[in-house]
Amino acid sequence: MAILGAKTFQNYIAGEWVDAVSGETFESTSPADGETLGAFPKSAQADVDRAAAAAKEAFEHWRLVPAPKRGEILFRFAQLMTDEKEDLSQLMTHEMGKVLPEARGDVQEAIDMAFYMGGEGRRLFGQTTPSELRDKFNMSVRMPIGVVGVITPWNFPIAIPSWKILPALICGDTVVFKPATDTPTLGERFVELLADAGVPPGVVNVVHGGGGEVGNAIVTHPDVPVITLTGSRETGVAVTKAAADRLKHVHLELGGKNAIIVLDDADLDLAVEGIVWSAFGTSGQRCTAASRVIAHESVYDQLVSRLVAEAEKLRLGVGWDDETDVGPVINRSALEKIHSYTEIGRDEGAKLLTGGEVASGNGLGKGFYYRPTIFGDVDPEMRIAQEEIFGPTTAVIKVRDLDEAIRVSNGIRYGLSSSIFTQDVNRAFRAMRDLKAGITYINAGTIGAEVHLPFGGTKDTGNGHREAGQAALDFFTEWKSIYVDYSGKLQKAQIDTAE
Ligand code: UN1
Repeated sequence: MAILGAKTFQNYIAGEWVDAVSGETFESTSPADGETLGAFPKSAQADVDRAAAAAKEAFEHWRLVPAPKRGEILFRFAQLMTDEKEDLSQLMTHEMGKVLPEARGDVQEAIDMAFYMGGEGRRLFGQTTPSELRDKFNMSVRMPIGVVGVITPWNFPIAIPSWKILPALICGDTVVFKPATDTPTLGERFVELLADAGVPPGVVNVVHGGGGEVGNAIVTHPDVPVITLTGSRETGVAVTKAAADRLKHVHLELGGKNAIIVLDDADLDLAVEGIVWSAFGTSGQRCTAASRVIAHESVYDQLVSRLVAEAEKLRLGVGWDDETDVGPVINRSALEKIHSYTEIGRDEGAKLLTGGEVASGNGLGKGFYYRPTIFGDVDPEMRIAQEEIFGPTTAVIKVRDLDEAIRVSNGIRYGLSSSIFTQDVNRAFRAMRDLKAGITYINAGTIGAEVHLPFGGTKDTGNGHREAGQAALDFFTEWKSIYVDYSGKLQKAQIDTAE
């Protein structure tokens, strides 16, 4: 199905659609069937310079637009996204590959964020607090910072840009946005809808191209003081180093190696459903995917055999087919990486229980499909239990009790999502306290975060910041404390005393 007819797209800078200075382009193709979706500008430093200059200039106007008015633009954006939800979802299933119901969820997450952040235009609460001195008024207010560099991944091509761009806008910042090179069409549509909603020229600029050229130019640009990135741990470290010389504010959302714990008293039907959804939904390509299952020894055999049976029922195919449960993975190198971990798991002595191969029959050979894969008898220190695979592969580990389960769950470098299935409230509360992760689910899988709670993780998953929820506002603003003395005399804090 030709969804776009291979159009040529442009960057969006200062409210104008423009080619890359170099005139070069790259193509976006579907991971489902190889269809070409469009050609995009292969940008570089000069394009980022133009976008940063536009965003810097626009900031001086945008920061003065009353926040409720900025919010109204986000409400209009939410409405446009709602109107376009089906088209965007169709486009997403072609460009990114996820199945249609999940693509709709991705778009819905952005709509939710637009309404949430739109409402924030009438809040953006600071504090008022008493002064130590008489006739003096104290308050703290959130101030916008300036130009935000937004670098997003391909796995949530609409939702993740919304987590970064919408809070930045409501806070009064302006944006230079680099969408992932695997999903540029969706990034472009996102910005087009923002412009249609009334975001003024220069406030959001999109520059297409690779991380080495465009990403690096954004991260090192002197006029881009704030960087928000969702990507790999390696990229996060490189970005932190590159931004250090200018003491930029850097928000990082990096890897995960999330585990679902299943205790002996768990509702196994529910656990099986939760694991299959969290491990194989989005073909395992979520930062929050369940790539480990930690099973109590008394339920291990039953759980494993039921998981294998369910995984084998999953139908692979193009995401826009109603019959498909699991779509393709994003590209050839992802497919190769995922398969290399099957070989690593085998070599390490884990037991391959199902999957472990590229699926190419039934017309799947035109895309990048990998069979849902489950390893059993996994040792928690094996590489397949430690490293992020970002594909439909999960590793089942046997444990003796809750303490060991928590130790194993925590025994990784990452700390994004975690989960436990148990009917025992005491054990559930111990898990809520002791799992070292930014997110803990009780009797649900590891995926499915909602936009009004903070999203992010501990340890190597990030650098302490959170996106979404109220936490997002802390990253996209700086606090200013204001002291208003209406006593008519010079009062000295800590020195003068008021009766
Ligand atoms: C991601 O994989 O980076 O909680 C984001 C979830 C989704 C977002 C995942 N709401 O799984």
